[in-house]
Amino acid sequence: MRLYHAPASPFVRKVMILLHEAGAVGQVTLVAAAGNPMDPGTMPLDRNPLGKIPALERDNGTTLYDSRVICRYLDETLQAGFYPPAPHLWETLVIEATADGIADAAVLMRYEDHVRPEASRSPEWVAAQWSKVERALTAIESRWISHLAGPLDMGQIALGAALGYLDFRQPQRDWRGTRPALADWWAGFALRPAMVATQPG
Ligand code: BEZ
Repeated sequence: MRLYHAPASPFVRKVMILLHEAGAVGQVTLVAAAGNPMDPGTMPLDRNPLGKIPALERDNGTTLYDSRVICRYLDETLQAGFYPPAPHLWETLVIEATADGIADAAVLMRYEDHVRPEASRSPEWVAAQWSKVERALTAIESRWISHLAGPLDMGQIALGAALGYLDFRQPQRDWRGTRPALADWWAGFALRPAMVATQPG
């Protein structure tokens, strides 16, 4: 399998954390890809018409995207067990979706500040994206901390990738102060070997 990869992407990191946790990094060849919405660069447009990574080219030549599809596929083929059976599955999927939404908003903030032409940038739009991140973090703090204390699953992995991206690209924004339980969980989770091995930067 070939994984189109950039170490800074939180969605690529999510897939890489899964591979590390499943002990399967060696089953995937990494293919460097770089680009953005204004300039697709070396993004695999022939593999993913949306021009996004991660994209996973399978040995039969077909390609899977986005990160949620890739993670479901890898979890099933590797028998990793990071998607528990229902009813726990629904909570895992909602936490994964919430974490992906945090990462999505933070990537859009990054593009606004670094990719969009300077004259068209909107601080209000960036603030609206950050509000989305704040609401999502507050929801996790108030509803899902007990889930995070349970067995490792795809919700935790996605959240690790998203919080890592916030620390990487938005280090000046203090999300921890009003969310002590989540900050505590993250301090421990960030030390996992899979997290250390996939750190961006
Ligand atoms: C970043 O550099 O922040 C980034 C790189 C690839 C995808 C998304 C974000």
